[in-house]
Amino acid sequence: MHDAIIKAITAITGPEHVLTSAEDRWCYAFDATELAALPDLVVFPGSAEEVSRILLLANEHRFPVTPRGAGTGRSGGSVPIEGGVVLVLTRLNRILEINAKDLVAVVEPGVILGKLKAAVEAQGLYYPPDPASAEFCTIGGNVAECAGGPVAVQYGVTRDYVLGLEVVLPTGEIMETGTRTMKGVVGYDLTRLFLGSEGTLGVITRIILRLVAKPKARRTLAAAFGTLKAAAATVSRILASGLAPTALEFMDHVTLGCVREMLPFAVDPAAAALLLMAVDGHPQDVSERAGAMAAFCAEQGAAVVQGQTLEEAERLWAARKVISPALKRVKPHKVSEDVVVPLGAIPELIAGLDELSRAKGLIIPCYGHAGDGNLHVNVLYDRSLADEAAAVEPTVEEIFVLVRHLQGTLSGEHGIGLTKAPYLGMELSPAAIALQKRLKQAFDPHNIMNPGKIFPPPPKARAGEQEGI
Ligand code: LAC
Ligand code: ZN
Repeated sequence: MHDAIIKAITAITGPEHVLTSAEDRWCYAFDATELAALPDLVVFPGSAEEVSRILLLANEHRFPVTPRGAGTGRSGGSVPIEGGVVLVLTRLNRILEINAKDLVAVVEPGVILGKLKAAVEAQGLYYPPDPASAEFCTIGGNVAECAGGPVAVQYGVTRDYVLGLEVVLPTGEIMETGTRTMKGVVGYDLTRLFLGSEGTLGVITRIILRLVAKPKARRTLAAAFGTLKAAAATVSRILASGLAPTALEFMDHVTLGCVREMLPFAVDPAAAALLLMAVDGHPQDVSERAGAMAAFCAEQGAAVVQGQTLEEAERLWAARKVISPALKRVKPHKVSEDVVVPLGAIPELIAGLDELSRAKGLIIPCYGHAGDGNLHVNVLYDRSLADEAAAVEPTVEEIFVLVRHLQGTLSGEHGIGLTKAPYLGMELSPAAIALQKRLKQAFDPHNIMNPGKIFPPPPKARAGEQEGI
């Protein structure tokens, strides 16, 4: 990157908000995947106006800009694959308003989700989305990727809570989308277009969120099953039973093994799977529904652990939240997917993965948001073992083939980013991809915003990218 551009950017934010040394820049090369690419410059803007001035410069001089928050993304979305500027939005970290009458919060994108949730709960309200990284991810990243989490079964995902946005367009305009009201149909739904757009359409600088009342009570229970099949079949039966779980999570035996000692109770080492459930509501209703759910699981042959104290429930959810990093206890490397299948297809997905694991000789643990049909399928491997490493990508492709065969989708909450870009055509038709590319061009005529993401790279560029990683 040219010195004159670095000087111009430094003049916008002040030198204390720019990182230039290689060791500092490397800190912003990664996200939570195993991918990395070194940016030319790291900038921490302090306002939408500063973001706008940086994007105007980027348009003039055609350098890439990759926005990011805490870097907890799981598809390489904030990895600056084409270099240029990484725009870190963590200085925009104010909770501007929590309004109990309107049931809205207005926040800047760099607010840590856990802090926002706590501030909202202190006022008797609730912002439900709860990705596993809640204590360190930013709300801006949640919006850009449309983050989910366990309670999406009852409450929905980030998309369902964003009423409006302030964004800086790649061409520099500062623009508002959506409303502060619960309804609104004026013009196209640009707010939703930004939800999950992975930093490719603009930079989010303010978010209006819908809040709900804090549930009066929550009960957590867990049920250990002797077979994967029984656990998988129980998921859609629970959903169809009308018991309305708030969360319905699945852990297979490999996953269980990684977090076993964190659990507040002993699980039979022979257990093939654990279902972890939560129910929200009024205390009496919650205890009735939890009781019925426990009885239901027991009827299906599960060993049920019910009625934990709040502390035990917290330990259980804490164990659930660390599964992803804990899987590295089994193998040093992993590719972690977030596929979704129709609810009735969960048993077939789990059986298919079991078969694939045997056929490929790879460990493919599976856990996650079974109540949404959204499972984290992890392909574990050791890069130093050539056979294992070579089998990973073909296995990922077969997982996607299986998911598409079951009429599922490639990504439920982590986005396409870099990791799934080569597979986009397995789900979207050429016409749908062409239309999305035209949309991208309408927003970003010079392709400065997070280039190289979502859309499949041309074969030559793909080889170049691999070297860059
Ligand atoms: C989880 C992350 C990986 O649910 O989405 O643990
Ligand atoms: Zn998840």
